Amino acid sequence: MGLSNVPYIPPGDLEEVEDEWGMPIFLGGGGNGAVQLMRIKSTQVLCAVKTQYKHLNEETASQSFESIKGLECIPTFFGVTLPPDDGPFPAIVQEFVTNGQSYTATSLYDATDKRLITKDNSLQVAMDICLALRDMHARYWLHCDIKSDNILLQPSSVADDTEDLWDDVDSVASWEPTQDIYPTESNPNFKIKLIDFGLTLNMNDQEQYLQFTDERQAEVMKNSIHVAPEVITGQRPFSKASDVFSIGRVLKDLSVVGDDYLLRLGEQCMKPNPDERPKLDDVIDIINVRIQSVKIP
Ligand SMILES: Nc1ncnc2c1ncn2[C@@H]1O[C@H](COP(=O)(O)OP(=O)(O)O)[C@@H](O)[C@H]1O
Ligand SMILES: [Mg+2]
Repeated sequence: MGLSNVPYIPPGDLEEVEDEWGMPIFLGGGGNGAVQLMRIKSTQVLCAVKTQYKHLNEETASQSFESIKGLECIPTFFGVTLPPDDGPFPAIVQEFVTNGQSYTATSLYDATDKRLITKDNSLQVAMDICLALRDMHARYWLHCDIKSDNILLQPSSVADDTEDLWDDVDSVASWEPTQDIYPTESNPNFKIKLIDFGLTLNMNDQEQYLQFTDERQAEVMKNSIHVAPEVITGQRPFSKASDVFSIGRVLKDLSVVGDDYLLRLGEQCMKPNPDERPKLDDVIDIINVRIQSVKIP
């Protein structure tokens, strides 16, 4: 079960966290795997344990562990363990991205749904998402599955308080913030964390072309509107440009509650021809210019 380079956490070092009815807490997942909230006994740190449904290639896992270690834009990767469901593949143990209020995380999807994102902070949130992806690209990783439910938002006040919180971890569920932890319009202090590395690819590895039957292609086109068309049709491999396409979808989602400008930028990023899409650095510059211009009264 051990992977060289990747810390192994024995199941005995982890304990389940229970809800008020004594049931284990699942943060997500369904048919293909599950993410369970657990606690590392020795440190009392809460973690999200993700059951894998495909085998972790030893070399890739070790490589990815080394290259993403310390990246701020993703949850800290603690190691691997035996899967809680007795499945055949190692489970991933990572930092639990808390919203500070409950045993759940706030995804970008939830945040837009609950209008935690406003016209005034939407540009900054868009910028932080792009910067997070740029950090991944800088380490030669393509995310390949960027969408609103694979982006978590952690209020910075919670992130900063996290250390204190861990001292008294049993109180997390009942912990009440002393002040409104969601940013006010002038204080858009979310920390963005990208999650779900099920499809992540290393740019140094062989390019990945999808091969679907026509029928499956049509299905994926319809259900995975965040995946670039040239990837679904198998004409081109996953690339930085296909990640930009997915970012485009996110910008359009953000524009619904936020700045209209993001709608047009999102459309540019979602151009069917990957060569016509802006580069991620251009997207960042464009958002930056907009942030500066709306500051001026
Ligand atoms: N590190 C984490 N901290 C908090 N919640 C998480 C974490 N990782 C996953 N989740 C929750 O579990 C859900 C499913 O996890 P994800 O890695 O996206 O798996 P899936 O392949 O099922 O989409 C996420 O949408 C999120 O709500
Ligand atoms: Mg997901």
